[in-house]
Amino acid sequence: MCGIVGYVGGRPCRDLLVAGLEKLEYRGYDSAGISLLTDGHVETVRAVGNLSNLRAAIGLDADTPVSAEGGVAVATPPATIGLGHTRWATHGRVTEENAHPHGDCTGHIHIVLNGIVENHTELRRELSESGHAFSSETDAEIVAHMIEKHYDGDLTEAVRNAFAELRGHYAFVAMHADHPDVLVAARQECPLIVGVGEGETFVASAIPAFLAETRDVLGLKNGEIVTVTPEGARIVEVDGTPVEREIEEVTWDEEAAEKGGYSTFMLKEIHEQPDAVAETITDRIPDADSVDLSELEISQEFLNDLRRIVIVACGTSYHAGLVGRYAIEQWARVPVEMDIASEYRYRDPVVGTNDLVVGITQSGETADTLAAMRLARERGAKVMALTNVMGSQATRDADTVLYTRAGLEMGVAATKTFTAQTAAMYLLGIWLAQSRDAWPPEKIAEVIAELKGIPSKIGTTLASVEERVRAIARSHAEARFFLYLGRNIGLPVCLEGALKMKEISYIPTDAYAAGEMKHGPIALLDESTPVVCVATDSPILEKVLSNIAEVRARGADVIAIATEGNTQVAEVADQTLYVPKTDWVLQPILAVLPLQLLAYHVARLNNLNVDQPRNLAKTVTVE
Ligand code: G6P
Repeated sequence: MCGIVGYVGGRPCRDLLVAGLEKLEYRGYDSAGISLLTDGHVETVRAVGNLSNLRAAIGLDADTPVSAEGGVAVATPPATIGLGHTRWATHGRVTEENAHPHGDCTGHIHIVLNGIVENHTELRRELSESGHAFSSETDAEIVAHMIEKHYDGDLTEAVRNAFAELRGHYAFVAMHADHPDVLVAARQECPLIVGVGEGETFVASAIPAFLAETRDVLGLKNGEIVTVTPEGARIVEVDGTPVEREIEEVTWDEEAAEKGGYSTFMLKEIHEQPDAVAETITDRIPDADSVDLSELEISQEFLNDLRRIVIVACGTSYHAGLVGRYAIEQWARVPVEMDIASEYRYRDPVVGTNDLVVGITQSGETADTLAAMRLARERGAKVMALTNVMGSQATRDADTVLYTRAGLEMGVAATKTFTAQTAAMYLLGIWLAQSRDAWPPEKIAEVIAELKGIPSKIGTTLASVEERVRAIARSHAEARFFLYLGRNIGLPVCLEGALKMKEISYIPTDAYAAGEMKHGPIALLDESTPVVCVATDSPILEKVLSNIAEVRARGADVIAIATEGNTQVAEVADQTLYVPKTDWVLQPILAVLPLQLLAYHVARLNNLNVDQPRNLAKTVTVE
């Protein structure tokens, strides 16, 4: 989840760029940099760590008021065009060389990029063969060289031709030393917005980067290229067709801007899930039929001798682990044990050298999870941290780390970190299956193809169910109790849906394995009880349908989550919300979305603060 800001205009822009990057810090990053163009030269400063390191590198001490003059990176006269970037490592380690901006061979072209160029390996090879030399390990640097390859005096044309050869999801901005008043940017699946001021123009990955300077914006769509000058912006499609776009005025205040125009961080983060999952999976699926987790540096010998996996976690992270258990057992045939970290650490567990213990913790700082991981490590197990936060304690305590890349989550109720963790567990399951030859390659290729399609299906689901979920929330906002029922992979979805509902709406909930309902919870049902049933397509759907019939027989109101195309569920449920079809093991990552929204809307209808529910706190480490 990187950040982009670019400026072209009449003012010295170094400080505007740094200020813009500060507004994008919430997205999370591990390094940062800026490039400034003056007198036909581009100067670049990059630094690992947070923005105070970049400020120090350009001679701006964190305690010194920002001024337009001075500093080692400032050419004379001060630059009035430049690029800034905060990077969260995907391709290549966290180093100064890999931080953006990146340049071409001539040093004239500089770019900053968000997202991932999927065909970077083949492009790098082609470019190397034709003599291009690279100075970083990143996929982003390829784009600078691609523009160089196509450059013939016209930067827009060079960007357009380079863009046509890229695959993936990305947004980038380019600058050329010979064009001191032009930035050219392009968008494919990653956000990019132009801010139009008086004699100056900004281009950024999110509005807060320039909101203090202008409220007039132009949004870009996928496949569009924009040429930005101090006078404004000209948009074309990738085939060169000009695009007319009206300038819109942003009416949000600064606080709303941080929420991206959403009324709460939680809703914003729910809608960031396509991006969070795409960032987590894309570069780990380098080709159509395999997952690459070589970053874990786990030996083949260890994998051959692996006896079992133990997952330890708390809260929502525990539920992501539960989904992972089904996936790993189904695909890799490795036994998986689940444990609540606060139980595991005090249980004197039996664990040893042929065990892989996975600690799932978005913050990397939850004390019980850390203690459980440390205990397992002391007893000889290999310990992996699955976390969202670089440099967190979990990353230091573990033998190996798998990062989710969901960006900073501000809402206490975990949403995008859950789907990112679930996606990471799917990657782990597929990788173990292929490394241990546990599953036919054609089956692996099928599920990989489905997994790649999940980010866009998350987007489709959110767009298609929200209105109906809101209506359902209205009819149950005053309910005194919600029951959630599911089987197999539907069960962790229910546990997570029930947790979301109770933590933000304060309405008691219970989540049960549907087959266990008749052994007790059935006594709770009456005509006032909303019962949420996860009934997506799976080998045990028939069983779930029988459970729904049992619930209906007690007069309870069934809200079912079903797979598009299914007709049986709607026949037995009162209300049915559909999620797109996919491999049945992957359905949880879609099925949880209506449940997040249901909890959200019930809480909002009750005028509750969803971002900071009572008695709860998020463990967040900010350096
Ligand atoms: C807190 C939060 C939950 C979170 C849990 C575990 O209770 O309210 O949303 O799931 O901690 O946090 P972790 O950072 O370890 O995933």
